[in-house]
Amino acid sequence: MIENGKFIDKCFLNFKGVPSRRKTPIFNFTMMVIFRHEPSTGVKYGEAPEIESTLISDNVEDEFGVVALEKYYDTNLRRWNELVGIHARSDEYDLEGFLSGKSSLHGLELEALGDVSGKSLLHLQCHFGLDTLSWARLGARVTGVDFSETAIELARRIAERIGVEAEFVCCNVYDLPDHLEGEYDIVYTTYGVLCWLHDMEGWAGIVRRYLRSGGTFFLAEFHPFMWVFDDEHPSELKVRYGYWPGGEPEHYGGDGSYADPTAKLENRSSYEWVHPISEVVNALIGAGLTILELGEYPFSVDNRQMSFMERGKDGYSRLPRYEVPLMYSIKATK
Ligand SMILES: C[S@@+](CC[C@H](N)C(=O)[O-])C[C@H]1O[C@@H](n2cnc3c(N)ncnc32)[C@H](O)[C@@H]1O
Repeated sequence: MIENGKFIDKCFLNFKGVPSRRKTPIFNFTMMVIFRHEPSTGVKYGEAPEIESTLISDNVEDEFGVVALEKYYDTNLRRWNELVGIHARSDEYDLEGFLSGKSSLHGLELEALGDVSGKSLLHLQCHFGLDTLSWARLGARVTGVDFSETAIELARRIAERIGVEAEFVCCNVYDLPDHLEGEYDIVYTTYGVLCWLHDMEGWAGIVRRYLRSGGTFFLAEFHPFMWVFDDEHPSELKVRYGYWPGGEPEHYGGDGSYADPTAKLENRSSYEWVHPISEVVNALIGAGLTILELGEYPFSVDNRQMSFMERGKDGYSRLPRYEVPLMYSIKATK
């Protein structure tokens, strides 16, 4: 129940059973309401009934009562636009190091793609272009795509500053055919990309559209298996969620980001979709691609998937005591 904008009845948060990011994290009543928890807790929306929550009246229904996809994407876009500056100043992205010649790429993708010189490479969801430009420094002819205009502006400025030729396109991945022609030797997308997309079949169709016959598609992502664990547990893997998502995206809120957990944000909301590996693989197969290799790895480029991860000398983070898949990769061709 809501009274004077305050959430005062804790019971209904459990109306679907346990509070879960896998089960309807957004609550439908006479109007759509979303609860903001104390920033310091870092909890996701709608997950902790014991914390007092405040109505932020973020209505995600259109006038016909239909949840509008655009609303999810607009909300995410606002957050990503805000994150660009924060990430550009973060140690994690180390922009200064990049400007002085350091590559942002990891061994995994470098090994998977090998010698890229002279090849055309399309980078989907390129953020502010450090990976795109790292591939360009290795001789690829690169095009980066991202829906954040702030990210694309910065990517163009960085390219100019380091004197590297690159094309950057600003649009939603699904709208790319309205903005870009041609086919590419390599279509590349990595680390924290698929959760921002609602439709894997549509996405796989885009990959197919831009991959030349005989070309290489490469994806490296965080393993969805890790999403079953309670990511707030300080020392152990405790199963908390199911592996398979419901139909709706999950609604998260709070300050901080993977690159700067201390960042204070104006745009705290985001909507994310979980895509089990079978969904991703089947979407690529359905689009007519041939899977060449599926890899699973007990290490990650993200040190914050769990709070007790340890970063090794090789730059990858691992879970002490646990050998579980933290990332996966797919190499495919057309
Ligand atoms: C986690 S970042 C990608 C990380 C990248 N590997 C890096 O480290 O730079 C995700 C990117 O996806 C972009 N993005 C999210 N949804 C998108 C969409 N629907 N279309 C295009 N870009 C999108 C965001 O703006 C953001 O730059």
